[in-house]
Amino acid sequence: MNKGSLVVVGTGIQTVGHITPEAVAWIKWADTVLYLVADLVAENAILKLKPEAQTLEGLYEKGKPRYVTYRQMTDRMVDCVRKGQRTCAAYYGHPGVFAYPAHAAIRKLRTEGYEARMLPGISAEDCLFADLGLDPATYGCQSYEATHFVLTRRRPDTTASLILWQPDSFGHVKALMDVQVSAIAVLVDYLAQFYPRDHRLCIYEAPMYLGCAARMDWVPLAELAEARLTPASTLYLPPAEIAPMDLELAEKLGLPSMAQVQADLARLDPPSAPPAE
Ligand SMILES: C[S@@+](CC[C@H](N)C(=O)[O-])C[C@H]1O[C@@H](n2cnc3c(N)ncnc32)[C@H](O)[C@@H]1O
Repeated sequence: MNKGSLVVVGTGIQTVGHITPEAVAWIKWADTVLYLVADLVAENAILKLKPEAQTLEGLYEKGKPRYVTYRQMTDRMVDCVRKGQRTCAAYYGHPGVFAYPAHAAIRKLRTEGYEARMLPGISAEDCLFADLGLDPATYGCQSYEATHFVLTRRRPDTTASLILWQPDSFGHVKALMDVQVSAIAVLVDYLAQFYPRDHRLCIYEAPMYLGCAARMDWVPLAELAEARLTPASTLYLPPAEIAPMDLELAEKLGLPSMAQVQADLARLDPPSAPPAE
């Protein structure tokens, strides 16, 4: 019997344009393809490459705890490999971003001596950097799952960019039970401890289909609770202020011109600069 293996690939956000030739090759070459994607175009693209590919979507069930679903997804991947199959699992976006079962399966299989690896894909955050013209290196960048951010009482660095994932399901306790609590106002109040209520943030949605435009709606923090959020929304908060530079240290390091760089940056690329209305 062949020794099984696992390759986890990403289909990107806009599958037709984002999926890499390497991911396509693995999907075609695998004995078994499992997939979890967000839209029909992505699903059709996978089925065109591998008509026998099987979706993992059916493992989600109303009332079933999310961690049970994740464990079952992990087990499906692991079982295929143990049966000697060359297995490919395809997840949308980057397959390692918000995809716990993929990481868990790779870890488990490696401890059992199987070959298991992940190929990178284009995530929603990558699209955000491109569409919003945001370079995470300019001011630094923090990235959190929105509910986790609040529950763990993270203190954002307001001199760096802040990205919050899954705002549409903020406060939903879906992971434990199928109850939905509309709690976006809690997120607003939490953020308002650090940012002015008129601080403008962007509700960002990367285009999932060729020829479509990104959604980039700038709203003041105070109005976030009334804004439309969807499963494809990610929030981007620009910095509220510029981090002061330690000029003495810059001098010691022989970088006296850094102060000028900092001043130029503030002038040319101000941190909280949503497009003019
Ligand atoms: C389960 S995570 C999946 C992330 C995905 N693996 C990736 O690499 O981008 C779902 C979250 O990703 C973000 N997301 C998914 N699709 C998006 C899109 N088209 N535009 C912006 N954000 C998106 C949202 O924050 C959403 O709540």
